[in-house]
Amino acid sequence: MFHSTLKLLQKAQRGRYAVPHFNINNMEIVQGVTRAAATLRSPVILATSEGSLQYAGMNYLYSLAQTASEVTPIPIALHLDHGQNEEVVRKAILIGYSSVMIDASHEPFERNVQKTKRIVQLAHRKDIAVEAELGTIGGAEDTVRERKIQYTDPNTAQEFVERTDCDFLAVAIGTSHGAYKFAGKPSLQHNILSQIRRRVQVPLVLHGASAVPRKIVVLAEKYGASLQGVRGIPDAQIKKAIANGVTKINTDTDLRLAFDAAVRKALNNSPRDVDPRHILGPARDLIQHVAEQRIRLFGSAGKAS
Ligand code: G3H
Ligand code: 13P
Ligand code: ZN
Repeated sequence: MFHSTLKLLQKAQRGRYAVPHFNINNMEIVQGVTRAAATLRSPVILATSEGSLQYAGMNYLYSLAQTASEVTPIPIALHLDHGQNEEVVRKAILIGYSSVMIDASHEPFERNVQKTKRIVQLAHRKDIAVEAELGTIGGAEDTVRERKIQYTDPNTAQEFVERTDCDFLAVAIGTSHGAYKFAGKPSLQHNILSQIRRRVQVPLVLHGASAVPRKIVVLAEKYGASLQGVRGIPDAQIKKAIANGVTKINTDTDLRLAFDAAVRKALNNSPRDVDPRHILGPARDLIQHVAEQRIRLFGSAGKAS
């Protein structure tokens, strides 16, 4: 049985820390992030994107997450990330996710409200929480593509939450998905975040929050990756966002970088070794290490009980 995402976030809101959301695509990632959470006694949200579901299948990822929650003595929630296809969102609600995100942020405001409302009504009947998004987060992934950042308007945010009854809100304050977040100096719109926080009571979510750790980038490049120009969100900006009311923070890119760097290193150092366990085991370990860094930064270590 999964933990309630909403309860994890409400507790974090009271305790002024953020719950880590980690995107999962396979067993090594699930084990890496849940081992990190167990080691540091942190709650954790496992999240599947539509892209990950296309890759692995909802049943497989659901089962992996369920097994992790059974064998790991910490609160684990399962969340649908960036649900854009209503059929996929409905399927996640039916199968028993703890929460779903309906991402209609690319639609005009009124359509976003109507689409979000429809999903909220459906999900609440099953006691499942809903994350919605207002404004647009930049960057591009497999199925999550956004042209440019449109900051969340604090006034509209209040109306949006009241009319949709969504349980938590993803805000656009200058972060973007992927490893190339800033061409120049990294900076977030903390002023907008504080204004939203004053008008909206629900937990706030920060997407596109990866740090793109220098050490991991250097390691990946040492073994052949080409990552010129990558740039993530500095730790100080994340701390400030938490202080300004963010209680769920999404990380995918940092796990991808760790996976990539470790696999490259293993293949390079042991070119005659064809055992997948020797190739993917180090990736799982490096993912755990990166996830532990995120958990420490978010202040969620020791908050598992
Ligand atoms: O927010 C986007 C996540 O990083 C998911 O990316 O659609 O490539 O799985 P994806
Ligand atoms: P990153 O690409 O910064 O890891 O963001 C992930 C995300 O927002 C998933 O929803
Ligand atoms: Zn996202």
